[in-house]
Amino acid sequence: MYPPSDTRRPRTPLARPTTRYVCQSCGAAHPKWAGRCDACGAWNTLVEEAATEGTPAGLGKSGAKGRRIEFVGLEGSSAPLPRRLTRIAEFDRVCGGGLVPASAVLIGGDPGIGKSTLLLQATCRLADASRCVYVSGEEAVDQVRLRAARLGLSKARVELAAATSVRDIVATLDVADPPDVAVIDSIQTMWVDTLDSAPGTVAQVRAAASELIRVAKRRGTTLLLVGHVTKEGTLAGPRVLEHMVDTVLYFEGERGHQFRILRAVKNRFGPTDEIGVFEMTDGGLSEVPNPSELFLADRQGDVSGTAVFAGIEGTRPVLVEVQALVSPSPPGTPRRAVIGWDSGRLAMVLAVLEARCGIQIGANDIYLNVAGGLRVTEPAADLAVAAALVSSLSGTPMPRDAVVFGEIGLSGEVRPVGQTDARLKEAAKLGFASAVMPSRRPARAGGKPPEAPLRTVELSRLDELMPLFPAEGPPARRPRTAAS
Ligand code: TYD
Ligand code: MG
Repeated sequence: MYPPSDTRRPRTPLARPTTRYVCQSCGAAHPKWAGRCDACGAWNTLVEEAATEGTPAGLGKSGAKGRRIEFVGLEGSSAPLPRRLTRIAEFDRVCGGGLVPASAVLIGGDPGIGKSTLLLQATCRLADASRCVYVSGEEAVDQVRLRAARLGLSKARVELAAATSVRDIVATLDVADPPDVAVIDSIQTMWVDTLDSAPGTVAQVRAAASELIRVAKRRGTTLLLVGHVTKEGTLAGPRVLEHMVDTVLYFEGERGHQFRILRAVKNRFGPTDEIGVFEMTDGGLSEVPNPSELFLADRQGDVSGTAVFAGIEGTRPVLVEVQALVSPSPPGTPRRAVIGWDSGRLAMVLAVLEARCGIQIGANDIYLNVAGGLRVTEPAADLAVAAALVSSLSGTPMPRDAVVFGEIGLSGEVRPVGQTDARLKEAAKLGFASAVMPSRRPARAGGKPPEAPLRTVELSRLDELMPLFPAEGPPARRPRTAAS
């Protein structure tokens, strides 16, 4: 007789599972299939993969003894890193001043955003001074040639190949006279023949990238990896590669807009949060040296619901227009739609407007948009968003020649933000006459704040913003929206 708790099975040691399910979005491995990844919460991203590498055996019993590691001090005589310049200023700046030899750069972005175009243009520029190879796994040689012809770059000395086998590419790069720069377009098409899983799965993408990066580091090649990010997460997102590479750049933009923004999100050789702005034209990507002019180019006359935010992207001031539309909501849950800003942050600004300034706004439908397709991440945009919202609600336009910036705290205070001078200077340069901003503290006790290049309206609390917007529109408007 078996005791009641026994499952009536002979006791054999647990067999090692031969397959596992890997989330194609975050790379977490699960023993069983599930609709949703426990680690990142993405749906439908688990793909079966053969579990090739078992658990590592540890240092174990082999008896081999490691060498002792020598430690050194922090001070050393390392020369500054040499850089390879593409002379596309926007690209070089985002890379932290050019490409570093023996480093790996990942360029991620939605399909069709212009990654291949950008890298082809960059390598063609680099090819004047360095040896560049371009390995395309997505397009045939003729397609890349056609694009080069369209961009007027056919004469550039880039060496082009269509290949997807990592073994072949490694054999080509791991030679005594390696290329200076190698582009792999894209990492999702590369495959390592020792793995069973399909190209594009996390296992393949990781293995291919680590092989290529190892060769690049050993041979001093700058490796540029292209990675697609898809909304559905069906292809292995480049996210699983972020820790393996030195620099991660994202190329982003709205489909309908011609602007493209290259953003550094990780950089071991330079600052992050630097952006490069490009415009997609018939002749490829062209640089936009002064993005503020471009983002403000389509501004309408005196309309309510807009405010110009004086922001900082990386090291550079950028002026963008924040647009808000506040409209009475039908009964039910009001709609919120936000493009180019954080919706959680919008909820906070709305709550502060209600609770600290007595503005009844939360029951309305609210739409918020950062014009031009830029994504603003700075908290300094709070005050510009508040101004756009109040302007839309009251029907009173902001003065056309005013910029706004400042962070809003939960108790309704307007907090100072960094780089005030750079923001003011950029605004003055573009012809703005006044700035609505946090009050400035004098540099030293008893002193005066530094001279500003334009007129400043300095606020210490959010409710001081309201006198700028005397309700203008139809008189019934405010009470009605307040009641709804
Ligand atoms: P591409 O570089 O192929 O995108 P990715 O490599 O990120 O998938 O860019 C494709 C888009 O760019 C395509 O929709 C057409 C557009 N494009 C232009 O508008 N002008 C040009 O000169 C080029 C080459 C592409
Ligand atoms: Mg491409």
